[in-house]
Amino acid sequence: MAIVTGPQLNGNRKPRAPTKDDSQAVFDSSALLSERIRKWQPPAISSLLPLEAVPGMISLIVGKPNPDCFPFSGLSIALKGTNEKIDLNEAELHDAFQYALLPGGVPGLRKARMLWFEEFQAKMHNPGPTGTWGCAIGSGSQDLLHKAFQVFTDPGDPILIETPAYSGTLGFLIADSHNLVEVCSDAEGLNPAEVERSLATWPSDKPRPRVLYTVPTGSNPTGRSCTQARKIEILRLAKKYNFIIFEDDAYYFLDFTDPATKARSYLSLESEANGETGRVLRFDSLSKIVSAGMRIGVLTTSPPILQKVNMITANTNLQAPSTSQVLLFALLRHWGHAGFLAHTAQTAAFYRRKRDVFVAAAARHLTGKATWEVPAAGMFLWIRLRLLPAGGGGGGGQEDSFEAVRKFAVAAGVVAVPGVGFMPGGARGCHIRASFSLVGTEEEADEACRRIAVLVDLANGVVVEGAGC
Ligand SMILES: Cc1ncc(COP(=O)(O)O)c(C=O)c1O
Repeated sequence: MAIVTGPQLNGNRKPRAPTKDDSQAVFDSSALLSERIRKWQPPAISSLLPLEAVPGMISLIVGKPNPDCFPFSGLSIALKGTNEKIDLNEAELHDAFQYALLPGGVPGLRKARMLWFEEFQAKMHNPGPTGTWGCAIGSGSQDLLHKAFQVFTDPGDPILIETPAYSGTLGFLIADSHNLVEVCSDAEGLNPAEVERSLATWPSDKPRPRVLYTVPTGSNPTGRSCTQARKIEILRLAKKYNFIIFEDDAYYFLDFTDPATKARSYLSLESEANGETGRVLRFDSLSKIVSAGMRIGVLTTSPPILQKVNMITANTNLQAPSTSQVLLFALLRHWGHAGFLAHTAQTAAFYRRKRDVFVAAAARHLTGKATWEVPAAGMFLWIRLRLLPAGGGGGGGQEDSFEAVRKFAVAAGVVAVPGVGFMPGGARGCHIRASFSLVGTEEEADEACRRIAVLVDLANGVVVEGAGC
């Protein structure tokens, strides 16, 4: 594979299609594996499962329940805004209510050799020649993230973490007593200079971080997206300092920027930036675009890593729910890649309108009382409240949004998440994260921002007549 460097690096163009001559260097991550993953074994019966596919084989292996006892005789999906209905056929119905016991995905979905998602990821990100990468399905991307951290880290290990950080990840990392090394983001996303500064001065007698965790599109909580130039720099640092990048792109499809200028993913850029692949684990989520309750997420990375993640699945929650997988893939097959992308574009436009309404309401009510960044993607406004140092006369919390929310949310009639929930080291500050995803009308957005202004006033000791709700 030709390595293109510096400014020629393939701009924002779509990843090129693989050619026959592609010979891809794949980074061998085995030296970075955790001690704990080395102890995991595939479940005893899993090596026998392929024998079930031998024609004529009578399998007495698995304790699968007899589907004759299941009460369902049919299932269909009705699609909003159309008269379309998708009826599951008999084979799908069988798959939907039975164990799959193949953690990578329901077997029927592997018929065309590649999961729907592998074909899709090849189009979207072109991660490399067939065989150098693949996909695994999990119970949401959260499930896959948790497992992937087990593959590469042991409790107490250092981890580079984009800060502010998604609180759902912090929860299990803190419980494992990790040394969370904060690397800050700004308006252009994660700052590579911060990553380099941490690693260049890393004490030689201390174990080095093996993982960088980042949310590159419409970060939760900041709404910031990482520029393509920065992603390339960070990929090069990954090679220089020998770490793996966890690209948690839960908001990838809720991007408000012009598709022509949208930054490519780490997964897509890796080969060109580093002349090899295998250091990026990409996490996609179906939650924000199809259904959060179905609990489906997708991990895209090299086969040895998928095998480890799938081995944890096989030993813990066995598989992502068959019912969700079958329903989802009936829908995806009905839509095709083009239909799915049309749906994600509509969804992004929906959230973009919500963002614009909320930002306009913030400008009306919060100017002078708070500052905020206009999110590039996602569903959050990261608001810095102007809280007075001593909390004014109202017993506020000294530039502390946690105290402001704790003491005045009820009186103001509005609640949002204090920024401390997203700080790996627990630093207090003036930020709150306001989610605009469920704010229905302009009036509701207006009222929400008016009440945030009341909260600021109360925290600063300003007397407010007829405060909140
Ligand atoms: C950044 C980020 N990653 C992962 C998740 C979890 O997504 P899923 O529902 O796919 O588990 C969320 C959910 O809010 C998120 O914000």
